[in-house]
Amino acid sequence: MNIEALKKEIETLKEKNRLLEESLAREQKNSLEKDHLLNQKSRSASMGEMIENIAHQWRQPLNILALVIQDIYIAGQLGTLDADKLEENYSKANNVLQYMSQTIDDFRNFLKESDGIEVFALNDIFQSIEHIMVPSLKAHNISIALPQAEGLHIEGNRNEFLQVILNIIKNAQDAIILNNIKKGAITIAATHRDSKIIISIQDNAGGIATENIDKIFDPYFTTKHKSQGTGIGLYMSKQIIEKNKDSKLSVANTKEGANFTIEVPAK
Ligand SMILES: Nc1ncnc2c1ncn2[C@@H]1O[C@H](COP(=O)(O)OP(=O)(O)OP(=O)(O)O)[C@@H](O)[C@H]1O
Ligand SMILES: [Mg+2]
Repeated sequence: MNIEALKKEIETLKEKNRLLEESLAREQKNSLEKDHLLNQKSRSASMGEMIENIAHQWRQPLNILALVIQDIYIAGQLGTLDADKLEENYSKANNVLQYMSQTIDDFRNFLKESDGIEVFALNDIFQSIEHIMVPSLKAHNISIALPQAEGLHIEGNRNEFLQVILNIIKNAQDAIILNNIKKGAITIAATHRDSKIIISIQDNAGGIATENIDKIFDPYFTTKHKSQGTGIGLYMSKQIIEKNKDSKLSVANTKEGANFTIEVPAK
């Protein structure tokens, strides 16, 4: 082969290489966009649940406020509204309002899209879970045990992490309701082992069918009715956890149900 032919050959190879790189970059961009879209989809899917949760959460405080106002009104009518009674009702109402405003902040923070990476306390996450999820679990008679996670810290995007835990708890709730489990229970544990934090979320809903267990992290895999599941919850959850270094989301069945494990580096 003469020099000219060789040069030409090299040029064609270079061109092929360039095209390949271009198409790779395109693919990468596509897949990023797809993830973003999925993330948004899973967010708006959880909007409905959020509203339902806020409704649950506010029902009792609203009742208390109604009672406080009634109490003041009646005392006023009867002429028995003294300073003590006023003070008592005032502080009761104030506490309730503070609680309501705290829950709204929790929801708002959760819905805010943020890319911020930060170090956060695991206890913080469990407190938000308490505000966001516990009322709806209670309404379904499902008990939940949240761990003490004093001193455990994680680095990452706080909201995304919260979203993962919420997805897993929501799935457990769905499974408990679907399988008619009388004493539905969700148990969350957090331990610090070596340089890792291990969080496990277990339920007693009977577990995941063996033929499905390898598929549940696939996008669009769902066993739920179209109107109830899109099958992106666990796919997104796995992406969120495992895009961080040395982090893993996995599942196994126990005697009683499913056990999801999140493994992340401790900070
Ligand atoms: N705790 C669980 N117990 C039993 N099956 C489960 C549990 N968690 C998940 N699954 C199974 O995994 C499937 C996929 O879950 P995933 O959260 O990805 O989607 P989904 O809940 O069906 O829909 P959505 O997109 O609304 O979350 C579920 O349809 C269900 O079959
Ligand atoms: Mg789900």
